[in-house]
Amino acid sequence: MSLSFPTLSAAEAAALIQHSDTIGFGGFTAAGACKEIPIALAARANAEHAAGRPFRLGILTGASTGKSLDGALAEANAIEWRTPYQSDPSLRKAINEGRARFFDLHLSSVQGTVRSGVLGKVNWAIVEACDVSPNGEITLTTSVGASNTYLRLADKVLIELNAYHPKALAGFHDLYEPQDAPNRREIPVYKPNDRVGTTTVKVDPKKIAGIVLTNRPDEIGGFDEADPVTTKIGENVANFLAGEIRSGRLPASFLPLQSGVGNIANAVIGALGSNPGIPPFMMYTEVIQDSVIDLVQSGKCTFASGCSLTVSKDKLAEMYKNLEFFRPRMVLRPQEISNSPELVRRLGLITINTAIEVDLFGNVNSTHIMGDNLMNGIGGSGDFTRNAQISIYTCPSAAKKGAISTIVPLVSHMDHTEHSVQIVVTEHGVADLRGKAPLDRAQHIIEQCVHPEYRDLLRGYLALSKKGHVPQTLQNAFKMHLAFLEQGDMRKVQWQA
Ligand code: COA
Repeated sequence: MSLSFPTLSAAEAAALIQHSDTIGFGGFTAAGACKEIPIALAARANAEHAAGRPFRLGILTGASTGKSLDGALAEANAIEWRTPYQSDPSLRKAINEGRARFFDLHLSSVQGTVRSGVLGKVNWAIVEACDVSPNGEITLTTSVGASNTYLRLADKVLIELNAYHPKALAGFHDLYEPQDAPNRREIPVYKPNDRVGTTTVKVDPKKIAGIVLTNRPDEIGGFDEADPVTTKIGENVANFLAGEIRSGRLPASFLPLQSGVGNIANAVIGALGSNPGIPPFMMYTEVIQDSVIDLVQSGKCTFASGCSLTVSKDKLAEMYKNLEFFRPRMVLRPQEISNSPELVRRLGLITINTAIEVDLFGNVNSTHIMGDNLMNGIGGSGDFTRNAQISIYTCPSAAKKGAISTIVPLVSHMDHTEHSVQIVVTEHGVADLRGKAPLDRAQHIIEQCVHPEYRDLLRGYLALSKKGHVPQTLQNAFKMHLAFLEQGDMRKVQWQA
């Protein structure tokens, strides 16, 4: 611990921040997200609001954070605007009620957008660290996110020095910030395990306004055990990819994998690990979850490059007992590198993400429920999908006990278009959309992926729309959504002839 900087209580740190300041928070998911200062900021906002004074902030993050950050600030109505991704129930509510202005960004674009100045000045960078040297070298904890850019650009810096994370995390990070156009060169990563940057972020020590000492774990919940649906989705993905290797469409040595967030992603990685047709592989991904750690331990995943270690408390404790095993097998990068479209294309990633809904023609909605309510955000899904060697979307075929078919005539919000989405996988099967015209795609998705209770309905939809290149009928395209909203069940849809 360095005593070169003032040691502050969280309340003293929060008192330095002014109404309408913009804060760039470190962290990515709840991994490495600040906890003490945002809770104190929420208390300050409540006190200011009670006194009749405004106190609302611009909040930049890496991605989602923990309940002490997004949750506490949203509950205190302290968020004026917020970007990018979030997944906190209180913040989601505030956004959907119009109490916090949220705009979504591809996670790879966040750092460049902030550098460009279009979001205004960054007044504060607030990051979690496991070590700070007197000359301003900061060792981050379980994630990188956009911390390196926020620390460089911000006028002032506050650090939560968290003793929960060992200083031996030094060396797990690889911090590289590219130049912007017209001086931009290639990012010199040619293999998932290339290291191209520094292990610490160096800031001018004069910018460090203070350090808050803490000892708190990341606020990461565990993962659900795989259920029959997620297990089957995982097996379908693994069998499809093993078939691609057998057919020679993928090299026998395989290609690096990216896998999304949540329980399905965790189950898919688990299934790839146990499939004998899949050789040992590297991951070039955004979020490193529990199942990846298991595969690194078993040797099936030979290297994991990511932006955050979003692992459960027990799994992290296991890692911290054996950091020297993981050090040569893992790296944490800034999100503009972990999600870089240039690198996704160069490395030939196989990308696997989860959809809220998919339409018959291959368009995907990752972000909004019934067209209007934000779920989480686009995250890295666009960075990966658009540039993948093979882009895969997974989802259960139905939601809300069968009242919703996740496969619909037309998605109610579109994040990834039919031009980028190649493979759709549910528990019922795999639809390979590559090389298929729109009508063929629709028929294939119905027969391979749709829940059996919805197959005849969707066959009926296609039967009514016989003209045009994309056989869509505008009078029926959202009828399934309307049936759910008005009658509580998509199966009650009546097509209009
Ligand atoms: N219509 C309405 N609701 C739906 C739905 C649909 N078509 N499909 C799912 N839902 C509901 C589910 O029932 C569930 O609701 P509940 O919590 O009330 O039960 C909820 O939406 C989603 O459940 P969740 O368990 O959060 O799903 P998940 O963990 O598999 O996450 C996404 C799925 C799409 C929300 C998530 O993957 C995401 O945010 N993706 C976008 C970002 C991304 O892809 N990042 C990865 C890039 S590295």
